[in-house]
Amino acid sequence: MSTDYSPPLVSNELGRHSLEAAADRNLYARGTHAAWLGEIDGVAVRELVKQFGSPLFVFSEATIRRQARRMREAFTSRHPDTVFAWSYKTNYLGAICRVLHEEGWTAEVVSDFEYQKARKLGIAGEDIVYNGPYKPRASLETAVREHALIQIDNWDELTLVEELASGLPQPLDVGIRVWLDAGIQPVWSKFGFALENGEAARAAAQVLAHPKLRLHTLHTHIGTYILAPGAYAVALAKLLALRSQIRQEHGHQVPCINLGGGFPSLSLLHGMPGPAEAVVPPIEAYAAAIAGVLEKVPARARPQLRLESGRYLVDEAGYLLASVVAVKGVRDPFAAGDSAARAYKEQMLAGDDVRTSYVIDAGINLLYTAAWYRMDILPTHPGRTPPAPTRLYGPLCMAIDVVRYTVDLPPLELGDVLTLHPVGAYNVVQSMQFIAYRPAVVMIGTSGQPVLIRARETLDDVAGPERMPAHLQQG
Ligand SMILES: Cc1ncc(COP(=O)(O)O)c(C=O)c1O
Repeated sequence: MSTDYSPPLVSNELGRHSLEAAADRNLYARGTHAAWLGEIDGVAVRELVKQFGSPLFVFSEATIRRQARRMREAFTSRHPDTVFAWSYKTNYLGAICRVLHEEGWTAEVVSDFEYQKARKLGIAGEDIVYNGPYKPRASLETAVREHALIQIDNWDELTLVEELASGLPQPLDVGIRVWLDAGIQPVWSKFGFALENGEAARAAAQVLAHPKLRLHTLHTHIGTYILAPGAYAVALAKLLALRSQIRQEHGHQVPCINLGGGFPSLSLLHGMPGPAEAVVPPIEAYAAAIAGVLEKVPARARPQLRLESGRYLVDEAGYLLASVVAVKGVRDPFAAGDSAARAYKEQMLAGDDVRTSYVIDAGINLLYTAAWYRMDILPTHPGRTPPAPTRLYGPLCMAIDVVRYTVDLPPLELGDVLTLHPVGAYNVVQSMQFIAYRPAVVMIGTSGQPVLIRARETLDDVAGPERMPAHLQQG
């Protein structure tokens, strides 16, 4: 029998790389193999950077369509009367929205800007769900005129909608947003009327008392990245109880329940042991939990179900490519040889602050969600040397611009490209024009062809809206 020790195959960063990897289940294990990513949908990562520049957001059209179709099937196979709206704020690039509209998604918007964007993309007012805690009067006037479904958030908005609807020839369908305790903390009590103290029932009664309003939807959104399918069952049961109460007290059957979004993508929060596939329930589990409650309602009284997904549809489709622009700190402390031994000692003496570090050309200006979510950080090729703890700085002249304090990476060189994934939800839209221009965005179409869907910004894009007062103009 051989007495040679053969180490277990452990993946690089604790997390998503393989269900078998020992390091994925042991917070103290260190990987010997670096996960890497050479291509996205068959297109070489390095080619993308060569053609479109760095940093670069890249989206996979095929992945968006796959997610949309899987979600549709999960829900409509269990509850055919399901209507899907795309949550614009998750990523309102026109091309992304268009893909989802082609897949049959309507629009859910939370501002005048998003409303206008949906209209410009050809979505009819009546196919827009209008949410949010502040809808300016002029915007509400348009929404009322165009028969968008306004989901009323608060008493002041209700008063305004009552006023605007008064002159209409026909009653206007509206929804009310409700907040409730579905067992998820924190409870998102900022939005809507409280269910548990009777406020939502009073709001419903006020809507029903208005001759020009018709209560179409009871809506709640219990949060984002919800890992418990059962929470949706609780939320739905509570909204159905409110619906029954309204029916009993006012004789009105509310036709639609809207459960918002919140379904998770395959991603991890900092500190969560992975892989994500082991922690994140599949979309079918959410559909089953929701359908299980709906099935208890007699078929003729079953409501329409509406959903407003964001993260689930687009997060995994999005990648951020970034290049190494400077190497800092102690290099290769875990490699073999004398210089490595010296480097290792230096790091032991000087501590963590001198660990191998790289400056990359994408920072927290482009990665708003990196504060909570632990994206994969993947080189384009497997390293020859085992990965070692590494720090990644962003390009901003701000001490807080650290993309990751510790990530296991093989030694990198200037110009090497790293891919951060998944980043498709909430990052492009929340990226900042702070210090640096916002980068180009590319979509790889279903034919495998990468096309530009947003150009890299220029000085005119950033400084264009500025005005120089007369007394400061030169000459
Ligand atoms: C009202 C509403 N609907 C839908 C969404 C989309 O959520 P998610 O991206 O988690 O699916 C949000 C996001 O916060 C929301 O506030």
